[in-house]
Amino acid sequence: MLILALETSCDETSAAIVQDEVILATVVSSQIKLHEEYGGVVPELATREHLRNLTPVVKETLAKAGVVAKDLSALAVTRGPGLPNALMIGFRATQAMAWSLGLPFIGVNHHEAHLYSPWIEGEPSRARFDLLQPNVSLIVSGGHTMLVDVRGELDHKVLGGTVDDAAGECFDKVAKLIGLPYPGGPQLDKLAALGDPKAIAFPRPMIHETHDDFSFSGLKTSVRYFLRDNPSVISTESGLADLCASVQAAIVEVLVTKTIRATKRLGYRCVTASGGVTCNSGLRARLTEACARNGFTLRLAERQLCTDNAGMVGILAARKLAKGQGIAPYDAEILPADSLV
Ligand code: KG4
Ligand code: ZN
Repeated sequence: MLILALETSCDETSAAIVQDEVILATVVSSQIKLHEEYGGVVPELATREHLRNLTPVVKETLAKAGVVAKDLSALAVTRGPGLPNALMIGFRATQAMAWSLGLPFIGVNHHEAHLYSPWIEGEPSRARFDLLQPNVSLIVSGGHTMLVDVRGELDHKVLGGTVDDAAGECFDKVAKLIGLPYPGGPQLDKLAALGDPKAIAFPRPMIHETHDDFSFSGLKTSVRYFLRDNPSVISTESGLADLCASVQAAIVEVLVTKTIRATKRLGYRCVTASGGVTCNSGLRARLTEACARNGFTLRLAERQLCTDNAGMVGILAARKLAKGQGIAPYDAEILPADSLV
């Protein structure tokens, strides 16, 4: 079973070849530089860039894997949610290829691809669904923050999500407030490593509430007010590092506390995490400590699989196909923006 998978839901044009649940090749063409000067992803520019990049990315991926179109057994693509026009580039191109080759076409939910990415490991990356046990899964990216009850393979239910900003959005907006270039999350993470996480007591929104929802817009606002009242804090290297460490500590504490609480409540012994913010070193360290303290198994998506990539799309498609699920008609539409998993 040889699958060509594509992902164009936001600002990464990516393709992958997956054979028997092993990722043979992945290419990710990131548009970060293009959007940097605007401080965020500009949908129209993202769409045009996908259009430009798609063919070279697919050709490079096929060449890397040593595969030609007639070797393929199915085609898969992110069906949503995402930026509609950006999604449409990969979606329609994959549909057209599948139709012209007469092969099955599989449309994958973007969150669901993230959700199962912690079960991909090693070099080459291989799916390890044989290890899967019931778990609480944290999906944290620039657009989403979600806790999901994963009862078994492809059997899951969303427990909660953000009522306003996503965790990654909070990282990026705070980074912008202190003058870091977009996307500021990774830079904020680096500065935080040099600072004192207890220096400034920022709020931990919804941390004591027993539901599984999150809210990060208030935290961003309190950073804004703090900077208005204490503008000199970030004029020194140590002050800047302390602010970054304190903001990161607040975001991470909320994410970790609510994830562990949900896991205990459900009586599970396993936690997983995925999405771009799972690259954050503070989140990785605190989740590792908390899971060890509670005797939970922790599976963090490998760093190259945290941010958007077609490998995770191909793996999920392979799994769905093996179970006789997921095949969509050649004239299927993308998923609405509010689809969960
Ligand atoms: O999953 P992803 O690539 O795209 C979305 O689907 O949104 O996630 C990108 C997000 C951005 O907000 C970025 O700032 C954040 O992940 N991010 C980080 C780190 N690396 C990426 N946030 C904090 N610390 C990091 N090390
Ligand atoms: Zn994503």
